[in-house]
Amino acid sequence: MGRYLITSALPYINGIKHLGNLAGSMLPADVHARFRRMQGHEVLFICATDEHGTPAELGALEAGLDVRSYCDQQHDLQRDVCARFGLSFDWFGRSSSRQNRELTQHFAERLEEAGLIEERTTPQVYSIDDRRFLPDRYVEGTCPRCGYESARGDQCDNCGALLDPVDLIRPRSKISGSGRLEVRDTTHLFLLQDRMAERIRAWVDAAQEWPPLARSIAYKWLDEGLQPRAITRDLDWGVPVTKNGRPRPGFEDKVFYVWFDAPIEYIAATAEWADATGAEWRRWWLMPEGGDDVTYVQFMGKDNVAFHTVSFPVTLFGSGEPWKLVDRLKALNWVTWYGGKFSTSERRGVFMDQALDLLPADYWRWRLMANAPENADSAFTWSDFQNGVNADLVNVLGNFVNRVVRFGEARFESVVPDGGTPGPLELSLFEELDSHLRALTEHHDAMEFRRAAAETRAIWAAGNQYLQRAAPWSAIGADAPAAACSLRTALNLACLGARVSAPFLPYTARTILDAFGVADRPLRWPTAAAAVLLDELPRGQPVAPLPLLFRRIEDTEIADWSARFGGEE
Ligand code: MF3
Ligand code: ZN
Repeated sequence: MGRYLITSALPYINGIKHLGNLAGSMLPADVHARFRRMQGHEVLFICATDEHGTPAELGALEAGLDVRSYCDQQHDLQRDVCARFGLSFDWFGRSSSRQNRELTQHFAERLEEAGLIEERTTPQVYSIDDRRFLPDRYVEGTCPRCGYESARGDQCDNCGALLDPVDLIRPRSKISGSGRLEVRDTTHLFLLQDRMAERIRAWVDAAQEWPPLARSIAYKWLDEGLQPRAITRDLDWGVPVTKNGRPRPGFEDKVFYVWFDAPIEYIAATAEWADATGAEWRRWWLMPEGGDDVTYVQFMGKDNVAFHTVSFPVTLFGSGEPWKLVDRLKALNWVTWYGGKFSTSERRGVFMDQALDLLPADYWRWRLMANAPENADSAFTWSDFQNGVNADLVNVLGNFVNRVVRFGEARFESVVPDGGTPGPLELSLFEELDSHLRALTEHHDAMEFRRAAAETRAIWAAGNQYLQRAAPWSAIGADAPAAACSLRTALNLACLGARVSAPFLPYTARTILDAFGVADRPLRWPTAAAAVLLDELPRGQPVAPLPLLFRRIEDTEIADWSARFGGEE
């Protein structure tokens, strides 16, 4: 068995995330972590809130809190809702932790020793009324190319022009609206990424396991030529800039740029976990000479790929220390919301806490992963959600398990019956299941979530079909042993169907398996032949009554939710 280090891109601290964020990184990472644990691997699944940068400062301002209290509050909210969604992080850390401060400063100092850091002075927009430098995105004005009045200092959203804040006509601060702006010189640390370009390229060349989307994004950046990039900002909130462990002269009012410290938090969160549990974190991150047995898998939205395939590796390689780099990388596209994007700032779409007020986690987990934005963006619509849930969970899985348990109640006193032997119908079922299981395992291995969901559903559907063909309710009069064998097979098949659904539907799987008296915790992934798997439950073992597993989503609810959340067809 191997060791799997699994990370999900860190959600920004500013508010509970929407379903698009969930489906684009945290949820697929969780499904994969659960699959690897079931296979018996040692898994460390890490996530954290990304707490620095302007979004945190502005969020706090809006909430009327100091930044630290705001982050404390938002972190707790996010941790709670992630737990209620069944996201099985081994640790959900905070990029504002002491561990991350220390590691971020450590990396910067190592990079400087390696000659990869330089101080440079550049002009930047300063807002007199806000008494601060403004990041490019926080300068707004009229686009010099198309005349759009709300162009941002980095880009015009109307015509796509890449801009510099000084290009804008009538620029103003997005924070206060003030037009009293001036350009002042400011000094920052620049990471000389260009010097690492060949190293990174060789590494990407060797990264055959990455999906094409990730490699092409990395090459695009490399081909455009890596530029030195500023890794500090004129802000109060963030990791302070040091030199030899002391505040760095001239940098007292500056902090590291959020995209410099955020990925380091993957490591720091592991240290937070280790400090809290007494575990050893270096065995996950610092690699002994001559190789290691850790497979590091990263999950992220496609907008994060360049940071993970180029910028963060520059930090890791540049340190000259033997840090673990990503082995496998899963980049996802967007879930769209009625022609647009889900948006945190505009409150467009459904947010994780709201979703759980409507329905339990497994409904959402299933639909978001069965329709994962893998090869293209995928649209969330209320009617797709309703149809998907009703067709897969209610009509197939729920219906099958329910029929089996009911029949056992009515005719076999709710125990796994003895008697009868498998005939041709069972033998062909075994064959069919063997091929489904093989395919399902391959799809999970490849992190192909839509395919894995389809294959999981196929196993449930095979259950319904088998029951239909075997028809133990008609056989029971003439041939009781045959009916007993059919029911036993079907009960085992329901158990198997629950087991394979556990990465997607952890709550439902547990409910079913508990009722069936299945004892293994953590659950094992089925590897034996179907003939063996379908004889797992001891004969004579009682089966407890099951609650309703899934309820149908009604048209009236969909109408109500569309009206409440928007997104009318
Ligand atoms: N917070 C970023 C986002 O939501 C992701 C940060 S990932 C990490 O886009 F690499 F910085 F950790
Ligand atoms: Zn424009």
